[in-house]
Amino acid sequence: MSNTSYKEDLQHPVFGVVSEASAALGLESYVIGGFVRDLILGRENKKDIDIVAVGSGIALAQQVADMLPRKPKVQVFKNYGTAMLRFEDTDIEFVGARKESYQSESRNPVVENGTLEDDQDRRDFTINALALSLNRDNFGTLLDPFNGLKDLESKIIRTPLNPDITYSDDPLRMLRAIRFATQLGFNIEAESLESISKNKERINIISGERIVDELNKILSVKKPSTGFILLYKTGLLDLILPELTALNQVEEIEGHTHKNNFYHTLEVVDNISENTEDVWLRWAALLHDIGKAPTKRFFKKQGWTFHGHEFVGGKMVKKIFERLHMPLNQKMKFVQKMVMMSSRPIVLSQEIVTDSAVRRLVFDAGEDVENLMTLCEADITTKNAIKFKKYHQNFDLVRRKIVEVEERDHVRNFQPPVTGEEIMEIFNLKPSREIGILKEAIKEAILEGEIPNEYEAAYQFMMEKAEKMGLKTM
Ligand code: CTP
Repeated sequence: MSNTSYKEDLQHPVFGVVSEASAALGLESYVIGGFVRDLILGRENKKDIDIVAVGSGIALAQQVADMLPRKPKVQVFKNYGTAMLRFEDTDIEFVGARKESYQSESRNPVVENGTLEDDQDRRDFTINALALSLNRDNFGTLLDPFNGLKDLESKIIRTPLNPDITYSDDPLRMLRAIRFATQLGFNIEAESLESISKNKERINIISGERIVDELNKILSVKKPSTGFILLYKTGLLDLILPELTALNQVEEIEGHTHKNNFYHTLEVVDNISENTEDVWLRWAALLHDIGKAPTKRFFKKQGWTFHGHEFVGGKMVKKIFERLHMPLNQKMKFVQKMVMMSSRPIVLSQEIVTDSAVRRLVFDAGEDVENLMTLCEADITTKNAIKFKKYHQNFDLVRRKIVEVEERDHVRNFQPPVTGEEIMEIFNLKPSREIGILKEAIKEAILEGEIPNEYEAAYQFMMEKAEKMGLKTM
């Protein structure tokens, strides 16, 4: 046992109350896990606190609630022997110290009551097994049976027990190891890393939702590639997102090679992470090239091609979201749209940037045009300094033109200047093909810059077009 005391750090008023409540019930209690880890690391104060009671966690939660001002409601999860309450802006979770053994096909453990050490034993990492006493006689004392403090100092992710047991008990921990390593800038200890590779198949019993929670956390760090390289090296990525690992190849035919699209993708994800916190835009960066593996072809004249990869990639996005039980809502649609449009600005910036091309881009991307530009700029990973500079300069031009064109033509949220109803009225038409043809012709004329996006001009244009079609006004 360590004598280090963190009494001064346990300032949150709830700790004093838990201490008193424990004394009243005659049991011991400790704050454990992420709160302690982050407190010692000096990370931003966590808004959830885990309390372990040597005895009934539920009884302790109820006692604490009784002693708190305004007696917050206690949520009890009887099956898990846990209880939760919210005090001020903090979630406080109570659990009785447990001894656990897991069944091989499930994450749900068989639980027995245990001591604090039993409970620490069954936790994922030494740095997450640190506990601070909330008992009156040694309030604030650190209980650290696995040298978690030393591992925090030397930045090591290590399991308290043999890693094969810890990971096999709860395979989600393999992802958690990689996530913590990525978030905290730690190294996973060698034996642990080997064990992840060995037990990787066990990830298959974990639900998509849990996996995605961890992927989102990895994607949210400053440099997500670190995590994805670990996922790749341990073999987990191949099981979770085989569409990405399929990009990890470089073929050569007749002296023609293509770039390694896996490492390119990771570079794009790192690049975009410097410019956006939006995890869905980061997902778009991660998946923007997945259509390249199934569409790759070699032609004698052109060399390597990936025709239509954006469209194929967009379709694959939906399949991935379904497989991983991700939300099939507008977030999925957004990622899909970004993937499908991911080559548009870059193509534009390589050519002469015309107003009409920019107008079409803004029309097709709508509200997401800024995000699309952010994605495409991140996609510039060329190591050729001259090209790099040229593409970025062209992007600046595209951005300026987007503003210009939008100010003039308002195509971002395009509303047809002449409505279908009006066309029906003017030409005395019932709903019919002609209306669609006229509307489409007006839209095309605006996008091409033949007429401004204004009523008068559109009306005039429509009348001329209608005459050619042989339509008569009333
Ligand atoms: N824990 C575990 N195995 C898991 C999940 C959690 O052993 N698969 C334990 C760890 O001791 C962890 C604590 O439960 O510290 C709380 O878990 P959780 O709230 O998920 O994570 P934190 O460590 O608090 O970190 P974060 O909030 O960053 O996820």
